[in-house]
Amino acid sequence: MHTKEKPNSWNRVLSSIMKTEGTEDLLLTPVLEYYRDDQKIYHSLLRHKNDESKHEAMLSNLLKKEFGSPVLKATFTDKVLYKKLLNTLSQYFRKNPYPCFILLYAVEVYSVKFYQSAIDRVKNATLSETTKNEITNTLSEIIEDERSHIKLMAEMIKYSNKSFFGVLFSYGLLAFFKIDMCMSKLALYNRDIQWHLNEIGFSRKEMAAFVNHSIKISLTKI
Ligand SMILES: [Fe+2]
Ligand SMILES: [Fe+2]
Repeated sequence: MHTKEKPNSWNRVLSSIMKTEGTEDLLLTPVLEYYRDDQKIYHSLLRHKNDESKHEAMLSNLLKKEFGSPVLKATFTDKVLYKKLLNTLSQYFRKNPYPCFILLYAVEVYSVKFYQSAIDRVKNATLSETTKNEITNTLSEIIEDERSHIKLMAEMIKYSNKSFFGVLFSYGLLAFFKIDMCMSKLALYNRDIQWHLNEIGFSRKEMAAFVNHSIKISLTKI
């Protein structure tokens, strides 16, 4: 361990990011099935999916190396919603991937903003220079991929079939994303991560701004 103090908050926040990267990978599995006969799209989406699993592995390696291990703490939404929801979503995305692209577009926009700010925060963190550099390099590399994912998701939103129900479902997913990422005092299920985010310098207001911004941009694509 290279840290002087507060290592747990960086570990906790980066672990949460790692988990989100893994969820993105899972969401893309049924979408790939939908496009299995369209080689060009299939390979673009496969590259995207592989990037997400690579991001999860990069963060896992970083956490193991710098902090001993990731903090794997399941939140309320993980336990109650994600497990059940992911299954349902998979079945739907296999037939209509449009809402998945809308959701991932928002998640990618959010990620770039959040990771960029985390790189800014890490400069002043009370962590060793080695750990700071590792975090900065890992997040910078991930951001590069996420930028290309934003472009791909925008193209896929235009290209894929947009049904009435698909649009409705997209609104529902963005609402879920907002609830899941909600950092208000009332979001008791996020109390732990809110505390750690605050420790590393992210206010509730700033986190809410990232989510609102990404949803707003995604809504313009529907
Ligand atoms: Fe990613
Ligand atoms: Fe991504």
